[in-house]
Amino acid sequence: MAPAGGGNIKVVVRCRPFNSREIDRGSKCIVEMKNNQTVLTPPSDAAHGAKGPKDLAPKAFAFDRSYWSFDKSDPDYAGQENLHNDLGKPLLDNAFQGYNNCIFAYGQTGSGKSYSMMGYGKEHGIIPKICQDMFERIGGLQQDKNTRCTVEVSYLEIYNERVRDLLNPSTKGNLKVREHPSTGPYVEDLAKLVVGSFQEIENLMDEGNKARTVAATNMNETSSRSHAVFTLILTQKTFDTDTKMELEKQAKISLVDLAGSERATSTGATGARLKEGAEINRSLSTLGRVIAALADLSTGKKKKGAGGTVPYRDSVLTWLLKDSLGGNNSEYPALCRFC
Ligand SMILES: Nc1ncnc2c1ncn2[C@@H]1O[C@H](COP(=O)(O)OP(=O)(O)OP(=O)(O)O)[C@@H](O)[C@H]1O
Ligand SMILES: [Mg+2]
Repeated sequence: MAPAGGGNIKVVVRCRPFNSREIDRGSKCIVEMKNNQTVLTPPSDAAHGAKGPKDLAPKAFAFDRSYWSFDKSDPDYAGQENLHNDLGKPLLDNAFQGYNNCIFAYGQTGSGKSYSMMGYGKEHGIIPKICQDMFERIGGLQQDKNTRCTVEVSYLEIYNERVRDLLNPSTKGNLKVREHPSTGPYVEDLAKLVVGSFQEIENLMDEGNKARTVAATNMNETSSRSHAVFTLILTQKTFDTDTKMELEKQAKISLVDLAGSERATSTGATGARLKEGAEINRSLSTLGRVIAALADLSTGKKKKGAGGTVPYRDSVLTWLLKDSLGGNNSEYPALCRFC
């Protein structure tokens, strides 16, 4: 992904429209966005808890980009295509050069992660848009008879710390995560299907989405109860007519739709829903600790081994995404924060 500010991580934030619950409560929007800035203005009724005028002053945060998707009729409305242009296209540029890439969607329950990653109905999110664009690019490249591309896809969910294959949901429950000495953690027996067109991948995606664990909570009608990892492996083989050698480039693209953090009091969860929520929060806090440890290592605050161990193994999510989070220098992860 086009490195912003010299780093190889991009962090963007997106603001969704009010849902019916927020409209019914007469909520007031306290978010403003312009280019990369997100400004939060505390509502005046926060005055009860405010310790001084400083607590009531607007607070500005800078991201690589702030997407205003609050009102579709606004001329500045950021739609699904805008996200794909800024995030999906540069990701594909890198993938076609043979670099691994990753996008995570992170944020509170109901904040618009699944909408932005997968989309609902015809409002395709960044995952189907990346797939479509990828096959268009492959079509262009294969005009040259010496170039052949293959795409493999896998789609899994981590539900209550167990891995389920969404492209092969009949295999009950708990796939094992193993570690390969050179390529790192992988899921044993996970289906990796070769796809030849967008149509084929779209059908698989639809089947996988139907198999994903989703439930209605007070905060979101279609709340993801699992973390989903959609992986594309792009292999390009080019026959060099001068050297008579075949060159191979391979890139892995991991597209991750996390389950949202939640407060049991707001979701109204009890029983199985409550247990799910606790597991979701636990693995998200491990993700937070892994990112904090990686940040300490990269700024030199801590040295590897000397208290600077990254706790990848503390959750299935972080263990599986070890190479996407920081284990491989050729990665360009993008974090999308939703509010
Ligand atoms: N940018 C947007 N424009 C229009 N509608 C949106 C947008 N983002 C989210 N929504 C709507 O808000 C609702 C909640 O979004 P979504 O299911 O994507 O949340 P989520 O972050 O995935 O939540 P969870 O963590 O519970 O899975 C959905 O009905 C979705 O269609
Ligand atoms: Mg979701």
